[in-house]
Amino acid sequence: MRENVSGARREAGHMARVIRRRVLHDVKAVANTWARATTRAPTPASVVFLRGGDKEGGAPWPAFPPRGYLGQLEPAFQAQLASERANVELEDCSFYHTVSLSNGDVVQGPWDLRGAESAYLGNINVAGDRVLELGPASGALTYYMEDEGAEVVSFDIGFDVCADILPKPGVDEREQQMSFMCMVSQVQNSWWYSHKDRGSRAKVAYGNIYDMPGDLGTFDTSVFGAILLHLRDPFLALQQAAARTSRRIVVTDALQDPTLNGDDNLLRFASAGFDNLTIWWTLTPGTIQRMLRHLGFDRLTTTYSNHLHYLAHDMTKEPVEMAMFTVVGERSP
Ligand SMILES: C[S@@+](CC[C@H](N)C(=O)[O-])C[C@H]1O[C@@H](n2cnc3c(N)ncnc32)[C@H](O)[C@@H]1O
Repeated sequence: MRENVSGARREAGHMARVIRRRVLHDVKAVANTWARATTRAPTPASVVFLRGGDKEGGAPWPAFPPRGYLGQLEPAFQAQLASERANVELEDCSFYHTVSLSNGDVVQGPWDLRGAESAYLGNINVAGDRVLELGPASGALTYYMEDEGAEVVSFDIGFDVCADILPKPGVDEREQQMSFMCMVSQVQNSWWYSHKDRGSRAKVAYGNIYDMPGDLGTFDTSVFGAILLHLRDPFLALQQAAARTSRRIVVTDALQDPTLNGDDNLLRFASAGFDNLTIWWTLTPGTIQRMLRHLGFDRLTTTYSNHLHYLAHDMTKEPVEMAMFTVVGERSP
């Protein structure tokens, strides 16, 4: 069985290498467009490449998950994931966050949280916590929380699971997914690049956020940084995390529409229209507070902070100070 799986992987890997050159220009085109996905001409690929392009150890998407997505936090599996991306170089990465590397170099990304991570996380103290981080992108928060003394498990899409992409009449959903996962793979490469650069001990699991692997364990704190707006079912994702979280959940999101009353319990659908097929919702702090209360996190604190951001991830323009809110919900003792 294992041989069949690795044979199939090899075969898929070969196919991916053959088509990779054809799709590479499309990959580059979407690499920095998290905020702009995606009404453009679709990628004609049936398989796209994750983990370091066509280098040794590259894997195709969709990829086979471990059975039931289980066993991912085992040291051997983490080592396997790390080795699959061991050859990743900067050119294989798309950095979502601005990152300071160990050699002093700074890699610019469309979000610069450096020095303001604590505010982004609602000024919580994570020292000694086991933290579940949903949607780490390049890992600015992963590695910040690790530096603060947390044991971090990040969770992201991967294997055979794609991000939620809004349907658009006339647009081929599967090709959109392929194209989008090319970009995601490059962002995930950046997480692994920093992981190696820092000698991090943070772990990562991939899979379906609406049906998370049953063996992740329990966490003191769960963190949802700028992810709920991208999810078809934000409440179900919160519910999945809540079932694994003993103490508190942190939700940070953009104050997308300053005209809205933040206290209102309001969820606005597809607020970016067809211009951005990954933005499902405009969320208010009031909505998040209501959701967290229903999940038993009834001691609520809401804070606000600004973070340097290149709008639409266009780094040729000047960055702006993006207003964000953070709701921290704690269970009553
Ligand atoms: C906009 S980035 C946020 C990065 C970081 N948390 C922050 O606040 O700076 C969204 C992250 O959520 C992940 N993501 C998006 N849709 C997802 C899904 N359906 N399941 C799991 N992760 C998802 C993306 O891969 C990415 O890591």
